[in-house]
Amino acid sequence: DTRMILSPSLLSSDFGRLADELEALASAGCTWVHWDVMDGSFVPNITLGAPVIKRLRKESSLFFDVHLMVDRPERYVGDFADAGSDMLVVHAEATVHLERAVAEIKRLGMQCGVALNPHTPLSVLEYVLDQLDMVLIMSVNPGFGGQRFLPFSLRKIAELSAMIKARGLTTLIQVDGGVDPDNTPELVRRGADVLVSGSAFFGFPPYADRLQTFMQAAAK
Ligand code: DX5
Ligand code: ZN
Repeated sequence: DTRMILSPSLLSSDFGRLADELEALASAGCTWVHWDVMDGSFVPNITLGAPVIKRLRKESSLFFDVHLMVDRPERYVGDFADAGSDMLVVHAEATVHLERAVAEIKRLGMQCGVALNPHTPLSVLEYVLDQLDMVLIMSVNPGFGGQRFLPFSLRKIAELSAMIKARGLTTLIQVDGGVDPDNTPELVRRGADVLVSGSAFFGFPPYADRLQTFMQAAAK
């Protein structure tokens, strides 16, 4: 499948040169970039927030794919809209009012995704799936880059893909955590549309070559 989208996770990039990294991704042929926002509460790590994204929005026309690993994300939907997020992804586990958060994201003109931790069943999507542009299947426990892919995620991707097809939807399936060129063919076969890669992307420059490696793996 050559329509696979690679969304490089800036978590593994050089935070001292984010503007240059964004430029390098665009020059390499990337179209999406993945921002990992961590609050030190939902996950045991703190990264960056809306002010940083807002500043870098001026430096890049890449599609900003923003993954909020934040408790009660509904508090910040306005800030991330104002920062210029194209896709805002919230965790189902982080809010007791998921439908309200989804509706607010859409109302503010962003695309909306819902992320599920590895242990969270697909059934939480039952009544919101039709409103979503994307579902993010976490294939590691969120919080850090460079962790090992959890193999049971493969069945989850296939089951989500079947659920989306059965409803006649076009919802994208994103997979995040431990993705590399070796597991890319299987992920795409199971139905993944968007692959996030941090350490397996930024650790292997030049970026144009690495993007090609992922795209060729997706076409296998
Ligand atoms: C994990 C983040 C991921 C992470 C992926 O909490 O959501 O986006 O950066 O990194 P790798 O590809 O190294 O597993
Ligand atoms: Zn992420």
